[in-house]
Amino acid sequence: MAFNSKSVKFRFINCQCFEIKLPNGKTIVTDPCYDFPHENKIQKVFGLDGFHTSDIEACDYVILNHTHGDHIANLGEIIERFSPKVICHTGVAAELAETYRDMELTSIYPVDYDGVCYFDGFRLETFHGEHKPQRFTYRKSMEDGDVISGDPRLTRLHTLGGLFNMNYLLTLDNGFRAAFIGGTDDGMTERLRSIRPNLAFRNKLANDMDVEKVAREWLSFMKDSWSQLVVPMHFEVWENMQPGFSAETFQRANELAEEEGILARILPVERTKWYGIHMCAEEE
Ligand SMILES: [Fe+2]
Repeated sequence: MAFNSKSVKFRFINCQCFEIKLPNGKTIVTDPCYDFPHENKIQKVFGLDGFHTSDIEACDYVILNHTHGDHIANLGEIIERFSPKVICHTGVAAELAETYRDMELTSIYPVDYDGVCYFDGFRLETFHGEHKPQRFTYRKSMEDGDVISGDPRLTRLHTLGGLFNMNYLLTLDNGFRAAFIGGTDDGMTERLRSIRPNLAFRNKLANDMDVEKVAREWLSFMKDSWSQLVVPMHFEVWENMQPGFSAETFQRANELAEEEGILARILPVERTKWYGIHMCAEEE
């Protein structure tokens, strides 16, 4: 006989966008980006076919890691459809209000680094984050604009995305803890050693297409995450350029973890597919 207690349910959609259903019924959407034209090269490698804001089931909160186009392309539609509370770093809050000016002001919830905030269904702890190197200037970014959405209204938010980057830890009402880490390590390995989350969402660590090399990079994060489960994100480039590469790499990382006695496992998430995490007790 088995006794199940549901911890959390989530699905990876695209880039760093997840729909996360909390045990109290509230839903968080992270970095909404999935539906944009597939015309230029970057749109093609970041794209997802056939998923629209109408497919998002619910959204009480949006949490933004940063505001580059591949993290906010569909934020406007999400705001229109669900009127969520949008949790973002203070540095981008005023520009969000300026861009989505029909939003109620208290629907924007600015937070700072190393803060703790309480919401219905979760506690949010924030950490300084750093984007992977941006080898261009403010001037260049403002000239180029957001090449993902192609929406000129997002130019400034997109540019600020290279400045403000926020990692965080969600602690749910049942004690389940999920860390969300984009960009560079920026001290997260040190923090995770004491946080010891149940689950760590982590973006793609490198751009290589070498199974063994990339599997070993994930293995090293699995070890450093001090978590039970690692959930990879922002690897749609692999899915679009070499289908099957990510599944093979994640499988190899799990084999290596088994061989080396590392406790964490990586979940080879398929985009838009729901996954439930439960704590299960059974007689042995
Ligand atoms: Fe970015």
